[in-house]
Order: sequence, then structure tokens, then C-alpha cells
Amino acid sequence: MLADLTHDGADLTGSLGIGHTRRATHGEPNDINAHPHVSENGAIALVHNGIIENYLEIKEQLAQQGVTFTSETDTEVVAQLLEFHYNECGSMLEAVGRVLRRIEGSYTFGIICSDYPNALIAARKDSPLILGYGENGNFIVSDVTAIIKHTRDVAYMNDGEIAVLTENSIDVFDAEMTPLEKEHSRVEWDVTAAEKCEYPHFMFKEILEQPEAVRKTVSPRVRDGRVMLDDITITADYAKSISHIYMIACGSAFYAGSVAKYVWEQLLRRPVEVVLASEFRYSEPLVDENTLVIAISQSGETLDTMAALREAKRLGGRTLAVCNVVGSSIAREADDVLYTWAGPEIAVATSKGYSTQLAALDLTGLYLADLLETVSREEYDEILTKLQALPEKMQKYLEHYEETQYYASLYFNHDSIFFIGRNLDFVMGLEGSLKLKEISYIHSEAYASGELKHGTISLIEPGTLVVALGTHGPLFDKAISNVVEVKARGATVLAVTTEKFREKMEKTADAVIAIPETYRLLQPSLGIVPLQLFAYYVALQRGCDIDKPRNLAKSVTVE
Ligand code: AGP
Repeated sequence: MLADLTHDGADLTGSLGIGHTRRATHGEPNDINAHPHVSENGAIALVHNGIIENYLEIKEQLAQQGVTFTSETDTEVVAQLLEFHYNECGSMLEAVGRVLRRIEGSYTFGIICSDYPNALIAARKDSPLILGYGENGNFIVSDVTAIIKHTRDVAYMNDGEIAVLTENSIDVFDAEMTPLEKEHSRVEWDVTAAEKCEYPHFMFKEILEQPEAVRKTVSPRVRDGRVMLDDITITADYAKSISHIYMIACGSAFYAGSVAKYVWEQLLRRPVEVVLASEFRYSEPLVDENTLVIAISQSGETLDTMAALREAKRLGGRTLAVCNVVGSSIAREADDVLYTWAGPEIAVATSKGYSTQLAALDLTGLYLADLLETVSREEYDEILTKLQALPEKMQKYLEHYEETQYYASLYFNHDSIFFIGRNLDFVMGLEGSLKLKEISYIHSEAYASGELKHGTISLIEPGTLVVALGTHGPLFDKAISNVVEVKARGATVLAVTTEKFREKMEKTADAVIAIPETYRLLQPSLGIVPLQLFAYYVALQRGCDIDKPRNLAKSVTVE
């Protein structure tokens, strides 16, 4: 580790540095392809987030002029191009401007040059970049959690802007090099929230933090028995004009949207479509001013979600972001933003990010249903009361999760695991299955139980592990029938149900995990917790790198 190699930084002299922790997007993840990348004469070094799309063309041109490349990366091409333009014009800032006009793609750069030993140049396009104003120095970061130990005084860079940092100053320019005044923001996150403390993994800590995170997301938005979303400017008139709702997101955020689709369609009586952001952006979506588009993103920096949001805006849709990171790009670009107050989430596999997205979407659904008058007073009151009680119920389960740990120790050796369920159990299973595959590397699929006999059941053979989800009360009998169906083919069944149905389920399944009961539309908020813990303990048994699974990054700022 770098900390060991540098004796915790003690071996590093000087007052200026750049570093990068991402895995390679081009070439093997090895030392040669790792950042910083340096120009041929060794004078210019840079770190880069993003992808330079026309790098091969530039690389060829530079190679024809005799430039030798040492890595396979797109980033090194930028270092070499900078050297070329710097030699040509003699000004580093001008060289950066020329390079930015030449390259295509997405980037955040941190650039240093030995001719300017006290200055760092930074630039961004479609990739996060935050300036940190410290008492003893200044910073650039792509994620605020990296600097909150040093400063909470930050400014968010916009696309096309360039910053020049020294120990005592930060100057920002637009693409035409006109100086800009940046608005400062204060990061409120607590430093310990971004530290592992006594926990073995961030993921475990964050799973346990869920009751508090959901409480912080819900409580401030409930006053006098009503949902008050002061941050949202949607009026009753606009709500009544909505003809179509899209939820756009990636990964777990997409699965949170998938749960919300069931909830919102029940509450709002309006069609809700959940679309993967990476598909939405290229699908010529049917969006107009009567379309409400919800962009869901923990980091607020996911490039595909950002691009989908821009496409929705371009088409005239009204946009609402559900984000966790204050000041993130998606939060800043959407018409309205509802923050999930989960605090910093460090583990790559989301847990509290997902739970707070569910809570925020439940709140928003209830709020809109109230504006639309599509929910009865009794149902509204019941849902809101039960939403407020979720943290307590999550906590109750978290105090007795040993059975989940035990089942993980029984089943961690499986090569392939299926999750089945109907309705909300199906969409909850999608997230449970993603958790398992991303941290334990076990092949896993989630299926709607009704689809089993249309193909999937042929994969069930003696000993196959099926995680059967039966927490959705109205369809519990059907869940039991599906357990019987897969058991008849020799499957081993680990079932998740509610306390009310535990006994019945125990008669059929091999193992049962029971969770507390809540309002049926909110049940996934409780059901997901054992699935997160199951994935966590399975990964632990298999010796996986839980917080940083292979090939994955916390925020996906490339396409
Ligand atoms: C979740 O465990 C994953 N790491 C991933 O699917 C994530 O949810 C996805 O990349 C979206 O991230 P976002 O919420 O920050 O946009």
C-alpha cells in the first residue's frame, strides 16, 4: 500500500502532490497504467477521472512526431499532448486550454508541471471536481469524503471551468479564461461518519447505520402528521398535469426505483416506468412537459444517470433528483432535489444509500398522492405512521441477525444462487441478488416467481440454493407454492418472510429468516436488510474484499 511504501506519507517531501485511487479504464490495472501519467520529458504529470474518446487518433499523431508511450492508457496521451502544446506556446494554462479544445470525452484533471513547482491546474467535464479551501493548503477532490478531515469549505466546479491552485490561493476561470467567483458551500458531514471506527468493514457499519439514516431522511420531512417537502417546487396543478413518470437510475438506485414503481402506481394511479439510465439516454424517450422524471443516484455523479437527466431536460420534462451527496452534479442540474440524509457511504456496495432512497421515494410518492388526492386520509395516515416506525423495526431486526449470519455460513459455498419472489418481493430480490454477486462473486439471478416455469426452472437441480422471498402478505400463498415447486426439483430453500408467516414457511422451506411486519408497500425496506447481511457474511466467509470488490468503483463517472 502507498501508506506503507511512504511510511504514512513521512517520506514525501514538498508541498504539492496529486494522487489517484481509481482502477484503470484502459489497459491492465498494473503499475505502468496507474496514475499519475507523466509526459515524455518528465516535466508534466497528471491524474485523470473519465475517458478520452479520441485518444487513439491523438496518440497516432503524436507517435508520428516521435513521441514514445509507456502505458496503454488514454490519460498518458493527454500528458504527452500537454507537453507538445506547452513546448509550442510556453504557458501551461494556455497549453491546458488548447488540450481541452482538442480532446473529446469526460474528464477531471489534476495537472502539475516542474516549471511551476507551487501550482496545480484542475479542469472538469462530465466528471466530479470539488475545490477545498483549507487553512493550511488547498485541495481538489472528486469526492468530499476525502477532504472533510482537512476542510469543510468547498466549491463545486462546473463543466468547462479551469482552476489554478497554490497553497494560499484558488483562481477559477471559464473556458475563455475569464476569471470567475465561485460560491462556497459548507460540508456538514461528520468526520467519524466517513471512518470505519471499530467496525471490520464500512459495509457492515453502513448496514447497521440504516435505522438512523432512514430516520434522518424521514423525520425532518414530517410535520403535524403531513409530509412536507420544502425542497420540492411541484405544485398541485403541475402534479395533476403529469401524464407519465419515469424513474432513471443505475444499479441499486435502479432497483430502488423499481420498488418505487410499485408503490407510486398504487398511490398515484399514474403509469411509472423505470428505465436504466444507460438505456434511457439513447432510447429517444417519450418525454414532454407533462412528464416527471426522477433521477435516483446516491453519489449524484453517475455519468449515465447524469446524461439521462440532461436528455430528459432537453426534451422538456420536469426533473427531480433523489441524491445523497449535497452539491453533486445531478443534484445541481435537476429542477428539484430531495436529499437522502444517509451521510457518507464509503463501501462500494450500497446499503444505507439504497434504504434511504426507498424512504425518500416513499415520502415523495405519498406527497404527490396527497397533491393528486389519490390516497384516502386513512391510508395516508397509516403509511406515514409506518414509514416513521421503520427505523425502529429495522433496529429490532438488526439486534437479532445471527440467524442470517448462520445461514451464510451454511450456504457460502454455492456457485449459483437464485432469488425468487413476486411483486415487491421480486424487485427486492433484484437488489438482494446484486448485493450478493458484487461482493461475493457468486453467480446469482433474481426472477419473478411466475416466470420460473417459462424457462428458469430448468436451472434448478438437486442442491441449487434458492432464496425465496415471501414478505408480501397478499401473495404469501403463491410464495409458498413456488417454494414447493422448486423443492420438488431438489432445491435447497432459504426463505425470507415476515414474523407473521414464519411458522407456515418453516413447514416448507429448509431455512427461514423472519423480519418484522410493516405496511405492505414498505415491506422491502425491512426485507432488504437480511439480504444485505446474507451477502456480507457470505462474502466474509469467502474471503472477498468486501468494501472494494474487484473491478468496481463507488461512483461510476465513465460510461
Ligand atoms: C450498488 O451496490 C452498486 N455499487 C451500484 O450498482 C450503484 O448503485 C450504481 O452504480 C449507482 O450509483 P449511484 O446511486 O451513485 O448513481
